[in-house]
Parts: sequence; structure tokens; C-alpha cells
Amino acid sequence: MRIIYVGNPLLRKRSQEITSFDDNLKEFVEELTEMMYTEDGVGLAAPQVGALKRVIVFDDGSGSKAMINPIIVSSSSDTVVMEEGCLSVPGIYADISRPASVKIRYQDADGKVIEEVLEGYAARIVQHETDHLDGRLFIDYLSNAKKIALRPQLVEIMKGNV
Ligand code: CO
Repeated sequence: MRIIYVGNPLLRKRSQEITSFDDNLKEFVEELTEMMYTEDGVGLAAPQVGALKRVIVFDDGSGSKAMINPIIVSSSSDTVVMEEGCLSVPGIYADISRPASVKIRYQDADGKVIEEVLEGYAARIVQHETDHLDGRLFIDYLSNAKKIALRPQLVEIMKGNV
């Protein structure tokens, strides 16, 4: 298992729903969680290791959590700006505006359906990671001017120089 970087087409694909909640899934969740901590991330989505599965893991400071087939059911109309980064876009950080809180529906590793309202850092991480499952990256939210300004850095990442 290794992290893939922006420029890799797998990061732009839609990931597939998980239908079997077996030992392979649990093992995958464990490996993904280990990878997140090894890489010093606060969240990691399966496509970031080249696996097109709807699985995310994160730790907002209160321990590791895994969400299978997460769906954002509703979002608050109030937004908040926070700085984001991404293990697949190394060295780039940017202020991004997103809904302050979200209601999320997901399954745990046993397939149990859970619904939660998240706020603060957890809401932020889950929105960022869920985007990965639909092939979206945080840099997609930047203005064209900022995208153009970041282009040289992105090209270096794509060349593998970062
Ligand atoms: Co990311």
C-alpha cells in the first residue's frame, strides 16, 4: 500500500460501493488507518492508495474512525473557512470554505448503518475525504487565479519531485 499523488487518474475516478463486510474489509480498514498515522495524516480515503472503494478513515483528535459508503445527507447553510492539505497533494495548503456541519450516513466495518451530525474539525475532514470517493480534490475549490498560481507546484508533484 502506498499513497498516490495528484496527476494519477485513479484520484479522479468514482469509487465503488462496499457490499461485503468481511474480514478482507476489516483488514483493509486497519491497513488504511495504519497508513494514515504513518503518513501523519488526519484522514485518508481508499482511492488515495489506489483502491477505488468507498472507505474513509480519519482521526480528528478523538481516535481513529472508519466510515464505509459514507453519504452526506444534508449540510448546514452556514460555512466556515479552514486550511486544508492532502497527502495526495503534498506541500500545498489552502483556505477552503465548506459547510460548518454535516449530517452523514455511513456503515461501520460490520455493515451497520449509522447516522451522525458532525461539526468542527470532524465535519471538515469527513467532507474532504468523502470528496475523494467521487474523484474530487480540495484544490478543485480554488479560484482559477489560485489554480494557475499553484500550477508549477502541481507539475513538480506530478513529476514525482516532491
Ligand atoms: Co485528501
